[in-house]
Amino acid sequence: MLDPSPGLEPGTEFEAPDSDRLLQFALQVWRYKQGEVVALMVHLGDRLGLYRALAGAGQTSAATLAERTGLSERWLLEWLRSQAAAGLLESVDGQSFELTPEGAAVLADEVGSLWFAAGAFQGGVASPDVVDRLADGFRTGVGLSYDDLGPSAAHGVERMLAPWSRLALVPVVVPALDGVEDRLRLGARVADVGCGSGVALLALAGAFPQSEFEGYDLSRHAIDRAEVRRAESGLANVTFQHAGAADLPAQPMYDLILTLDCIHDMPRPAEAISAIRRAITEDGTWLIKDIRSSSSWEESRRNPMLAMMYGTSVATCMSSGLSEPGGAGLGTLGFDRTLAETMCRDAGFTSFTVHDFDDPANLYYEVRP
Ligand SMILES: C[S@@+](CC[C@H](N)C(=O)[O-])C[C@H]1O[C@@H](n2cnc3c(N)ncnc32)[C@H](O)[C@@H]1O
Repeated sequence: MLDPSPGLEPGTEFEAPDSDRLLQFALQVWRYKQGEVVALMVHLGDRLGLYRALAGAGQTSAATLAERTGLSERWLLEWLRSQAAAGLLESVDGQSFELTPEGAAVLADEVGSLWFAAGAFQGGVASPDVVDRLADGFRTGVGLSYDDLGPSAAHGVERMLAPWSRLALVPVVVPALDGVEDRLRLGARVADVGCGSGVALLALAGAFPQSEFEGYDLSRHAIDRAEVRRAESGLANVTFQHAGAADLPAQPMYDLILTLDCIHDMPRPAEAISAIRRAITEDGTWLIKDIRSSSSWEESRRNPMLAMMYGTSVATCMSSGLSEPGGAGLGTLGFDRTLAETMCRDAGFTSFTVHDFDDPANLYYEVRP
């Protein structure tokens, strides 16, 4: 554990702060601390099933919630008030609380809502051990792979990204790709590179039983979860391997390749793209989902979640991209559409189409040899 800095160097001088601006600045900093604590409360609400118990229940008291969940009324009252103070529950008197339909879509409905977000709240951004290693990264330049973040991080990534994979990939995204749906119906060979815990591949495998699906990921934790999910699904047309993009076959074998939210995490994205070029059939399709971002700082500043994204980059994506010495370290916002197109064309792909499905965080690219 690193000790915090003991203070400024003796003799450091700076202008006396303006008192109004000082107050505003201090408030802004403490709002981030408030966000950290509210995030912990959201995690507890998700983990204890509180949002699910409140969904559709109308005005609810702590006593009623305690009866419904079997949890302590006093603890629930404090949690309910914290949620109302944060604007996540509605309450006029601090005694009775309501989760609105919008709140239920974002915080309670994991299976049916594209907007479900509570799964992204893991109770802490990183364990103390990971925080120490991130601080080391600033000195060594080398980051942590997804596996270094531990099994709970793989679970967090799965729950954060699952809604779009489960609810939009088959009904919205695949039909927009030229000829892909028909091909999957007839029987295609598909690889998902950086498949994580396999939510997307399992959704496709269930929808297209004539096709064969293979998932690759460098994270043992993610592949272990994928295997459990595959066993639960009973699907026989999907396999997972603990392997990276570099392990793709060197011959054209796949009619469809997916890389969902992972090229920017890869230490060697250019090599991965070349490997995909070799492994895809001449009439195949590569579907890239990657973060909606821009190389222009001015444009990036319009993103209301920019601070979260850069922070996530340091903690996860850029760190993963630097987890091998000499890694590219593109980071969360680093594979913007211009760079994506350039890198694809450099690797020998000739067709690059951008799809915008109103996914607030991502764009989708349909790429062909
Ligand atoms: C943000 S997660 C996305 C997982 C999944 N595609 C999804 O949408 O849920 C990024 C994944 O990329 C994987 N990854 C990073 N570099 C990789 C590489 N070179 N080859 C394969 N997978 C890689 C990580 O282990 C991690 O599971």
